[in-house]
This record gives sequence, C-alpha cells and structure tokens, in this order.
Amino acid sequence: MPGTDAKASNLPVHIAVIMDGNGRWAKKRGMPRHKGHRAGVKSVRKTIEYAAQRGIKYLTLFAFSSENWRRPEDEVSKLMALFVDALQREVDELHRNDVRLEFIGERDRLGKGLVRKIEKAEAHTRGNNGLHLIVAIAYGGRWDITEAVRRVIGKIASGEAAAADIDELSIGSELQLGGLPDPDLLIRTGGEQRISNFLLWNLAYAELYFSDTLWPDFDEQDLDRAIEFYVQRQRRYGHTGEQLGAVEC
Ligand code: FPP
Repeated sequence: MPGTDAKASNLPVHIAVIMDGNGRWAKKRGMPRHKGHRAGVKSVRKTIEYAAQRGIKYLTLFAFSSENWRRPEDEVSKLMALFVDALQREVDELHRNDVRLEFIGERDRLGKGLVRKIEKAEAHTRGNNGLHLIVAIAYGGRWDITEAVRRVIGKIASGEAAAADIDELSIGSELQLGGLPDPDLLIRTGGEQRISNFLLWNLAYAELYFSDTLWPDFDEQDLDRAIEFYVQRQRRYGHTGEQLGAVEC
C-alpha cells in the first residue's frame, strides 16, 4: 500500500466500519434495495481480505442497528436472510484464512436459525489467530451501555462489587467489545457524517473518516485512503502536541 509501509507500526489496530449506501447504490441502478445489500456482501468479503492483508488485527462491521428494525418488514426479513446466507457461504473460507468471527448485539431479537448459525460460526473459528472480525447485528451503542450498567448494578446488588470501586474499566469490560481494544479508526461510507448509535463508548478516541463512496463500491483504494488518513493523524488523548514531541506548524 503506497505511503504506509514506512509507518507500518502506526497502522490502526482496530478499524470499525459503518457500511452505508446500499439502498442508494441500488436505487441508482433502478434495483430494489435488497440488491444493494446483496452487493454490499461482496464489499464485506473484499474488505475483510484487504484488512487481513494489511495486518489489521480487529475489524468491526455495523451490519444492522437497533434502529434498523424500523425499516419495512420486507427489507428487514431480506437482510436477515442475507446474514444467514452469508454465514452459510463464507464461514469455511473465513476459517481457512484464520479469521476469528464474533457477533455483538441483541441476540434475543434475532431468529433462531440465525442465532444457531452465529453460535456455530463463533465456536468454529474461536481458536483462530488471524483477523478478529466482529459483526454488529441488532446493535445499538445506548443499548450496549445500558446493559453494561445493568450488569454492574447486579454485581453491586449481589455484593460482588462495591459501588465505590466502579470505574471506566469495570463498565468498559461489561460492554459488548469487552476486553478488546477500542477502535482506532471509524470509517463511514455513503456520505453521511454521524455515528448513528454505533459503539458510543468505544469510539471515544477514534479518528473519524467519512467517505462519499457508497458501500457496494468501497474497494481497496478506499480502504487505503482511510488508513492513510489515519496514519497522518496525531493522536493526543488530551495532551498537547508539544508534550508528544511533535513539531507544530
Ligand atoms: C446501510 O445502507 C446498510 C445496512 C443497513 C445493511 C448492511 C448490510 C450489509 C452490507 C450486508 C451484509 C453484511 C454482512 C456482515 C454479511 P442503507 O440501506 O441505509 O443505504 P442507504 O443509506 O443508501 O439507504
């Protein structure tokens, strides 16, 4: 990848992606929206491959939000069928490529067939050491934080934890991403510039990259542009540039 090799150690460890623009991609071609989602699966496959090639350790994809249940019933059921189908087709190949697959989100709201496929895929790939792929389905950041707080309160109520000891670490470890590192880079395709209730806690210090590319058109060059953008950022975490030894213009 041009421009990043010399700074390989600065590559993002964890990339999160809001895959937006499937519907518009389909509409532009006079197709129904679900064809856009189907085309989106191809971009998912390519992005996993490129990310793994570039040595990215964690990739989290926002496939279906808590709010997406509000979409027309037909679109929701076609999306759910697409997830089942994608799992059916892709898991063996992911496994061969040493990808570890995990899902986050409100599993109780998903159909039994999909949950079975999810559990099987997670168990099948648990021992893999390559790219750790996390797919968010029926996920919302506020739901995630609420559930974490609920669990913390449960621990206090049972005497397992004391209220005075609750800190960011104890809440963070109860979140869906648990002990995984926070995303360093958030990519959102499709031209909108918002977080849309994705990983609200974990994105606190992420660099945000917005691309006008519609998700089904997202390719290797787009991913490289996003990584290049990230490599150029100076992450200060509240410090000044001088403290970090940077030369400021
Ligand atoms: C947002 O585009 C996209 C979604 C709600 C679905 C994302 C799903 C996929 C990319 C399919 C496969 C995913 C996996 C993990 C197998 P939109 O429909 O909101 O597009 P629009 O803004 O143009 O209407």
